[in-house]
Amino acid sequence: MTALSSLQSKTSDLFNSKFGAGPGLKAGYAPGRVNLIGEHTDYNNGYVFPMALANIGTIAVGRMTKKGEINIVSSADVSPNSFQYKSVTTELGDIPQWARYVVGVVKCFEDLANRKVSVDLAISSNLPMGAGLSSSASLEVAVFSLLESLYDVTNIAKIDKIKACQKAEHKYANVPCGIMDQFIATLGDVDHALFINCETDDYEKVPFGDESLLLVVTDTHKKHELAGGEYANRRATCEAVAKSLGVPSLGEVSIDQLVKHFCTPGRDLSHLPDKAYPRSRHVVTEIDRAKKGKECLVAGDVRLFGQLMNESHKSLADDYQVTCKELDEVVQVAWETEGVVGSRMTGGGFGGCAITLVYRHAEQALLDRLREFCPYSSSFSTTAGRGAYSWDLPE
Ligand code: GLA
Repeated sequence: MTALSSLQSKTSDLFNSKFGAGPGLKAGYAPGRVNLIGEHTDYNNGYVFPMALANIGTIAVGRMTKKGEINIVSSADVSPNSFQYKSVTTELGDIPQWARYVVGVVKCFEDLANRKVSVDLAISSNLPMGAGLSSSASLEVAVFSLLESLYDVTNIAKIDKIKACQKAEHKYANVPCGIMDQFIATLGDVDHALFINCETDDYEKVPFGDESLLLVVTDTHKKHELAGGEYANRRATCEAVAKSLGVPSLGEVSIDQLVKHFCTPGRDLSHLPDKAYPRSRHVVTEIDRAKKGKECLVAGDVRLFGQLMNESHKSLADDYQVTCKELDEVVQVAWETEGVVGSRMTGGGFGGCAITLVYRHAEQALLDRLREFCPYSSSFSTTAGRGAYSWDLPE
């Protein structure tokens, strides 16, 4: 049984035991992701370069009902693991955090599709939660895809779907995330990474699947929590710097402009938040690295791509300060392993996962060294998989 077919059986069994078997069951799937390079650039209208994980994500199974409610059950280790939402009586504050993503997506889907939703839903994921692999966007996009299929809605543009899922996260889960995760969960493709311009929403599919190379994902098992203040705090700092430069976002700023802004003697920048210079320097240099990184992969210059990954990590550690001891250790071990092309943290940071691009022949040595020097971590190798889809389940 493949990873996804066993996840599907698990989700169907969960549905049947909670709501009862019967006709009209459908399923929606969306993957988790890693970001190859371009971190904390999406909400600055910069570039990101993520790929969808193959067969690792969330499945939502559901059926339309006439009850006028949203009933959700999750296989995750959460308490309570089920929740009933009634639009007339339920307050946002009554909804457990995990269920807010689902309720938020339902509400945003209702607005876009102009439908009233009444469903029973079961949800399971084979993604580690809070590990920086975008379990939230995977959940949002899986549920949205299922709703499109249940309500036979075929006219919602992909970009509107992506933005609706992002809005659900902003409004209901209180995380001011960028657009990268929902984008790649929706539009990811087998053996390709997506180079996304977060200002225009244009994107380019770039082949990623060299025979001789592997991408190893290492989970530090240090949980990250983006609903906590640090992510929002970084975002606010970036916005304050852009405002002081008189531009809508840091995506429009060159490194020369930034240096001039911060290093011209006599300029009063005391209104800016603490560490505004290094924070914005990370963003501006990272956007540049993401652009160069894409060009390297297109040109087949893997060595330079690896160097850019390493520089990205250093900038995230020193300037943006979103890594942690465990991420730095994993990346350091990878850097010191022969046959490694590049290594960096991936996703929001403050814990979560690192990615390492390594030649196939050196994979075992890397895994052995990580086991020895970072015993708290666990690793798996991955390729780029497909984005969201939905299907009918047999009775
Ligand atoms: C999280 C957010 C994304 C992005 C990354 C950092 O994953 O959801 O929008 O900002 O952090 O690159």
